[in-house]
Amino acid sequence: MTSEVSKRESFSGKYGFIAAAAGSAIGLGNIWKFPYITGVHGGSAFILVYLICILLIGLPVMLSEITMGRRSQKGIFGSYKKLAPGTPWFFSGYMGIAAAFLILSFYGVVAGWTMEYVLKAIGGSFSGKTPDQINAMFESFIGQTLKPVFWQTGFMAFTGAIVIAGIKNGIEKYSKILMPVLLMILLLLCARSVTLDGASKGFEFLFKPDFSKLTREAILAALGHAFFSLSLGMGTLITYGSYLKKNENLVPLAIQITIADTVIALLAGIAIFPAVFAFGIEPTAGPSLVFVTLPNVFQHMPLGNFFCVLFFLLLFIAALTSSISILEVVVAHLVEDFNISRKPAAIAITIVMILFGIPSSLSFGSLSGLSVFGLSFFDLVDHIASNFLLPLGGLCIVLFVGWQLKPGDVKDELSNGGTIETGYLKIFLFLTKIVAPIAIAAIFFHGLKII
Ligand code: PFF
Repeated sequence: MTSEVSKRESFSGKYGFIAAAAGSAIGLGNIWKFPYITGVHGGSAFILVYLICILLIGLPVMLSEITMGRRSQKGIFGSYKKLAPGTPWFFSGYMGIAAAFLILSFYGVVAGWTMEYVLKAIGGSFSGKTPDQINAMFESFIGQTLKPVFWQTGFMAFTGAIVIAGIKNGIEKYSKILMPVLLMILLLLCARSVTLDGASKGFEFLFKPDFSKLTREAILAALGHAFFSLSLGMGTLITYGSYLKKNENLVPLAIQITIADTVIALLAGIAIFPAVFAFGIEPTAGPSLVFVTLPNVFQHMPLGNFFCVLFFLLLFIAALTSSISILEVVVAHLVEDFNISRKPAAIAITIVMILFGIPSSLSFGSLSGLSVFGLSFFDLVDHIASNFLLPLGGLCIVLFVGWQLKPGDVKDELSNGGTIETGYLKIFLFLTKIVAPIAIAAIFFHGLKII
């Protein structure tokens, strides 16, 4: 075991892990998806359910993933196999691999949009435009066939290249410096947005709960998004936990990542909704919401164009630090379980993911007539991954850590072999064994109209 541990690369320290794990968590999910699904599902009541899911489900799942990863020193499959040899638990790893495929296929599409928007902002395309014109510009861009696919391919090529470079050189270097800058711009956007005329309606939408809007689908979407946003349910944090040194204290790490991710999402909401109402944009606009609203806010800011360029550039980088963590799950599986070397594995998977993402991209244009269960291809892929596979993957993870692992082993891992206090262990085990599994199952079956 020792030689295996020392052979495996590890993060250079606590900050490396936090940067990479927070880099994975903070991405398009916070800044693009959270506001758009909050808008679709009616605002504040949805946010409340989301926050409850983060606390009672997200946190225990996150800690369970990190615990599994560091204990086993493996990715999702290896982890199940090593910690419970000869049992079928590892089959649930296939859901994680499927989720990674599906998520990265559409994630690459939206991340590609951010690249186009960097160029648009550099060229000053938004200057002097009305909200309607900015909306039309977005619609006409995503409706095209080649351009969005070109950017999606470019984004995925970046992702593949970084994963090939390896864990330390690749992931750590890129996540460390840039996220605080994104936070600063988000704060500036919030300051501008909340001082626009007519902004107060946005506040009501965000903070005055209207429970009549809370449908079954909304509750399931809140659960699914808690998993999506925290990068949970498919083994990302198992893989990252496996690179974590044995003397790091896992609980504060999990709490810090969760807080950072949630704060960024809420700030994105505060930056967007006051402006949505001030500019008369529909809160239910869907995936276009951020791309249409924020260029308008930048128009009303000193140095707006400069900040607009910087914002979309940083959103692209935030997406990149998330996408590499998704690709890493699949690559680690091929490297560890099939002995394929890193480079060909990463190249092959990147290509397959690009191809699979093309119909998602086209679903805003030439395939917009195609609908399955009333959903576009893009929405269908997102639904299957976020609302089915991630919650089910997360359910397996908490059941595994709560019921399959010996409590003594969990305690040993969380207390670093008995060297640190674990007063919270009882709460963690209660959440992991009882609360999280029941809550996930209840929301899942309720969402599917089974209960
Ligand atoms: N958490 C990322 C985001 O919010 O953009 C997306 C993501 C990354 C989902 C990694 C799932 C995952 F395993």
